[in-house]
Amino acid sequence: MATLTKSVENNTDTGLSVEFENIHHSFIHGDRPVRALENFNLSVPPSEFVSIVGPSGCGKTTALSMTGGLVRPRTGAVRLDGAEITSVPEDVTFLFARDALLPWRNVRANVELGLEVRGMGRAERRKRSDEWLHRVRLEEFADSDITHLSQGMRQRVAIARTLAQSPRVVLMDEPFAALDAQTRAIQQEEFLRLWEAERPTVLFVTHDLEEAILLSDRVLLMASRPGRVVADIRIELERPRTQEMRISSDLFHGYYHQLSGLLKDAVRAAEEERAR
Ligand SMILES: Nc1ncnc2c1ncn2[C@@H]1O[C@H](COP(=O)(O)OP(=O)(O)OP(=O)(O)O)[C@@H](O)[C@H]1O
Ligand SMILES: [Mg+2]
Repeated sequence: MATLTKSVENNTDTGLSVEFENIHHSFIHGDRPVRALENFNLSVPPSEFVSIVGPSGCGKTTALSMTGGLVRPRTGAVRLDGAEITSVPEDVTFLFARDALLPWRNVRANVELGLEVRGMGRAERRKRSDEWLHRVRLEEFADSDITHLSQGMRQRVAIARTLAQSPRVVLMDEPFAALDAQTRAIQQEEFLRLWEAERPTVLFVTHDLEEAILLSDRVLLMASRPGRVVADIRIELERPRTQEMRISSDLFHGYYHQLSGLLKDAVRAAEEERAR
């Protein structure tokens, strides 16, 4: 398992490309099909950080699930590093809003979970969890009960568990949605700091436009019924990004202005479509 033996100290980009080619996908809802994605095309180069925003039900989670091998498109192909995804790829990991930590395991055992599932030996797991507990500043809580931690700390454990596996693609579905505004701001910067070290490719779903702009190299806006990409905006803000940029950067304001108008249109159209 090459990705697990790679040192997490090297500073090279590790991401894989992700490509969606002519995806058409519908779910059967009751007795009629719901067109979840139609003519969905997207090419994400290795190590790019891409956010996907759009109205509820436009197919964001479906697109992530296809990348994680959990949903097979009815038509078209999703490719990872050029190879069609036909099962759950080992280089891809998920991070959700609900942190999905196991309450009967302590902090360290939760960080080691993904490594254990992949069959890594105890000594190597221990080394890896030490390193990641340090990186997310939770060393002193290694033996703590998960239920004693704050939401922010729990999310840091979840991030450590995800990144400790040295994923080459990270799929994030509203990962910070359950956090209060201040904790969320801290987590955003923390995650970027950790991401910079190895730069896996990131597909990041959020309803928060500012979050999308602040974190990403590129923001995709989707519309619904059928789910499709209606805008693809490159974010040229310099890195490292800081929360300050929300206030002080004219470039940031420009992106926000441009995207918020488009998002409002897409949400309005989705509401009207749903009411019909
Ligand atoms: N397993 C399923 N069975 C039936 N319909 C589904 C299923 N999963 C998704 N859908 C439908 O497909 C469409 C896209 O769903 P998806 O969950 O991808 O949207 P989303 O953009 O992630 O929405 P949200 O912002 O609310 O999370 C929706 O109309 C949804 O109801
Ligand atoms: Mg969703």
